[in-house]
Amino acid sequence: MGSVTHLRYVGMAVPDYDTAVNFYRGVWGLSVAETDSGLAFLAAEASPEPYVYRIRQAEDGQRRLDVVGFSASDRTSVDELAAELGSAGIRLVSEPDSLTTPGGGYGFRFFDPDGRVVEVAAEVAERPCRQLEEREAIPLGLSHVVFNTTQRQVLESFDRDRLGFRLSDWLGDGFMSFWRCDAAHHSVAMMQMPFTSVNHVAFEVASIDDMLRASGRVLGDGRAKPQWGPGRHSAGDNTFYYFFDPVGNVSEYTSDVQRVPEDWQPRQHTTPDVWQVVPIPDFRGQPDAPPEQLPQSDPGLFVAPPV
Ligand SMILES: [Fe+2]
Repeated sequence: MGSVTHLRYVGMAVPDYDTAVNFYRGVWGLSVAETDSGLAFLAAEASPEPYVYRIRQAEDGQRRLDVVGFSASDRTSVDELAAELGSAGIRLVSEPDSLTTPGGGYGFRFFDPDGRVVEVAAEVAERPCRQLEEREAIPLGLSHVVFNTTQRQVLESFDRDRLGFRLSDWLGDGFMSFWRCDAAHHSVAMMQMPFTSVNHVAFEVASIDDMLRASGRVLGDGRAKPQWGPGRHSAGDNTFYYFFDPVGNVSEYTSDVQRVPEDWQPRQHTTPDVWQVVPIPDFRGQPDAPPEQLPQSDPGLFVAPPV
């Protein structure tokens, strides 16, 4: 079975491209690796991935997920996975081919059961990266992406049986589950919700100190509104601080993400936050969020982005 080997990037289409790019390249701490008109590929200074976050101007002004990118170990795995998904009736967005995005490589795209566009690629060229300075407090790389879904069990089965993810832990009755594709406790998590969208995208920083320094920088900047934090999650043992970015997406700084052994036994957790120094927000409501940030299903489901 073809399996994914790590999370590479998340691509978002946004109503205000300049606002989003200026925020992520500025105070959030990513670097612009390459731009095209209305399309920016943002890299993390310490990561060899050619880009970890992609921002595109939404032609209709509607915020949406464009694509989630994973890597596979080699070209054969890409071909095998595409063939397996195709024969299982999964709609491919593109057949395996050379990629023209930064880093090139060989990959294909498909719609997952919720209609998200997922890319799996191999042989993507690495980008020169550097060791961060102590207390530089900018992202080391992309950590994980969390999906809101109305059919969590369907998505879980798909990611486990088709993409090779393994369950790491779950919360409560299982309304949220955490899945890994490498040693990191989770690269993907799923939350049962009345709508289907991206819950948040998380960027890992080097330490708890960096998590707070980075969050303080963002709070001082004022363009992003804090959502939840600081705290430490039970599942994954990682620290967190969540923000609504200036275009309404939720991004997280995290540190200390647990690395788990091969024989890790999944277990249940009862609270999402072991510190509990701040109250847990009501994610189903967000009553004080601006209208464009209110929970709703992603308008990009089963729509392939132009790039
Ligand atoms: Fe997270």
